[in-house]
Amino acid sequence: MIRLIKSTFYNEEETTSSIIEFLSKTKQLSFGEQCEKFEDEFAKYQGRKHCVMVNSGSSANLAIIQSLLNLGRISKGDKIGFSTLTWSTNVMPIIQLGLDAVPVDVEMNTLNVSSKTFSETLEEHGDIKALFITNLLGFSDDIDKIKNICEEKRIILIEDNCESLGSVYKGEKLGNFGVASTFSFYVGHHMSTIEGGAICTDDEELATMLRLVRAHGWDRNLSLSKQNDFRKKFKVNSTFYSRYTFYDLGYNLRPTEISGFIGRKQINYIDEVIKKRRDNFLEMALPIYSISERYHKIKHEHMDFLSNFAIPIICKSEQIRDELVSKCDGKIEIRPVVGGDMTKQPFFGKYMNIKKSNNKMANAEIIHKQGLYFGNNPELTEEEKKTIVDIFTK
Ligand SMILES: Cc1ncc(COP(=O)(O)O)c(C=O)c1O
Repeated sequence: MIRLIKSTFYNEEETTSSIIEFLSKTKQLSFGEQCEKFEDEFAKYQGRKHCVMVNSGSSANLAIIQSLLNLGRISKGDKIGFSTLTWSTNVMPIIQLGLDAVPVDVEMNTLNVSSKTFSETLEEHGDIKALFITNLLGFSDDIDKIKNICEEKRIILIEDNCESLGSVYKGEKLGNFGVASTFSFYVGHHMSTIEGGAICTDDEELATMLRLVRAHGWDRNLSLSKQNDFRKKFKVNSTFYSRYTFYDLGYNLRPTEISGFIGRKQINYIDEVIKKRRDNFLEMALPIYSISERYHKIKHEHMDFLSNFAIPIICKSEQIRDELVSKCDGKIEIRPVVGGDMTKQPFFGKYMNIKKSNNKMANAEIIHKQGLYFGNNPELTEEEKKTIVDIFTK
């Protein structure tokens, strides 16, 4: 069986023995120096001023929405756009925090929200305050144009980049188009810290709020000058109380030093990992996509660099997809495309009122019904890649 995920870490043996050594020598394992060093290194890798490490990609998504609320940049009840084809915990924080989640459809040939689908949603829904776009499976559509629309209409653009670390579009890394972007370091993603995530931004005020939201709403992980700002503003003069003053709504989303340490190890391999995956994509996806009577073509040529961890296949009918599901049984581990059409998930109907102005099936629904993906692992052997291509092409 060719599994989605082969190992917890890239270069597993070396990473595991370095973790054992780290554990035997380190006194403090709660959030500290390793996490902070990882934040600096990851911010540098991504080309952003700030990185705030958290304990998962889902936590990163929750923290960014809570931070925008705390800063008053969005308010309860506001409409927030999201990619209809995404992962549950991209849209869930929007609902959990009392906002109105507005689905934005994706394009069939990129699986992502485009300026066209976003403009159509804006025409229908008007006053959208923020767009929490997902860069799905390493791809994007014309996110530069989406950014322009957002700037023109003063819509806050944030990116869920949990699936696209390392992808480049028009010379810019995905994750650098919006005011902030989120990342996941869960096993099987581009890099793994077992569980883990981060938010990157150039916006200092937002980074400060994210640090506060990450840890109880207190100021302990802020710089001295930022701590002074809060203490002055809220007239907290006594050090006895300052350590236990909670300035705004927060959670405990902190990672441990173990994650910080692993992140610092794994980031050294990131370029090698994403290059291997890009080569795997070209080797496996292109012959499969060329069978046009069975599969929809997914564009990749518009990306300067495509970095994904799974290869999506969108069939031309449900029957073809179902046949593939049987063919892969016991041979290749497959799954639906990410979380499928979010508006078709039970939780969405429970909390959100699904309004539709036409009876046209959304592309996200077609992909939900006719799509699947298999893993694009950097450790796939030539034989495994051949087996995969054979199953999908013969
Ligand atoms: C688009 C997207 N957002 C968020 C997440 C959540 O990340 P995590 O599993 O680290 O919580 C995932 C998970 O794979 C994802 O695919």
